[in-house]
Amino acid sequence: MRMRALVLGAAAGGGLPQWNCGCDNCAAARKGVIAPQTQSSLAVTSDGAHWTVLNASPDIRAQLAANAQMWPTGPRISPLRSLIITNGDIDHIGGLLTLREKQPFIIYLTEAIDAVLRANPVFLAMDNALVERRICKLEEWFELNSTSRARLFAVPGKVPLFMESGTVETQMLGEQTVGVEYEANGARLLYIPGCAAMTDAIDAKISDADLVLFDGTLYADDEMIAAGLGQKTGLRMGHMPMSGAGGSLETFKPYDHVRKIYVHMNNTNPVWLPDSAERWHAQDCGWEIGHDGMEITL
Ligand code: MLT
Ligand code: MN
Ligand code: ZN
Repeated sequence: MRMRALVLGAAAGGGLPQWNCGCDNCAAARKGVIAPQTQSSLAVTSDGAHWTVLNASPDIRAQLAANAQMWPTGPRISPLRSLIITNGDIDHIGGLLTLREKQPFIIYLTEAIDAVLRANPVFLAMDNALVERRICKLEEWFELNSTSRARLFAVPGKVPLFMESGTVETQMLGEQTVGVEYEANGARLLYIPGCAAMTDAIDAKISDADLVLFDGTLYADDEMIAAGLGQKTGLRMGHMPMSGAGGSLETFKPYDHVRKIYVHMNNTNPVWLPDSAERWHAQDCGWEIGHDGMEITL
């Protein structure tokens, strides 16, 4: 084993079902016809004992309880040793408030994402003496332990939804939205739960990776509008769709050695349905559909 990756939450912000949504997928999840899914998070390890959690979802309490890999091994000894944050949206930072119980760990994040936390004093609930925030520069490796390291890289995206004002630039390339490159014992994983567009730089990283977990928010860019659930396209929300011109099914090159898994699926996405044509098409294109509790060993 070089690394293990555990999908703690495969759904986008809101989860499946989302509390106020009665769409077909959410209704099916409530009835147990399809498995409910929690909000966006991944855990990775190079030794099976010490885990780094990528994004702290509002569902983290249930996620840590549902996966034995994450259970404490003694009084106040959690396998969760560090966290990496990829943007300031609530689905990726809300869980920090759950992790406030006097537990030491390290949070790695960019200056821009740390500024979002600093602007919200509720995050002072995490004891600064125990929870260290390490500011990371883009593209600079940092050691997580003796057998693993990570670096953050710019991904086209936007400011967090709750900080939008005026005209919103949806394809900013900088520190607001980042991907994570995680390397353990020579194996390389990319985690990109939000991505508004493919770039040459991201494509080059994918060609060097063994495993990529990628933004699967919407299948069709206009699916929320078509379902009568909102006015926004996926691209307006900072997420490239799976289908269509410029979508991930088209833009991903067929690198044979790279395992591709969709994560951060919105509850409207038809790939949640086991027999949908959309799910079959994504699988035919070489993708796996992530789900809560999915574990990958490299
Ligand atoms: C997103 O990925 O677009 C956000 O999670 C939206 C939200 O915070 O609800
Ligand atoms: Mn999100
Ligand atoms: Zn729904």
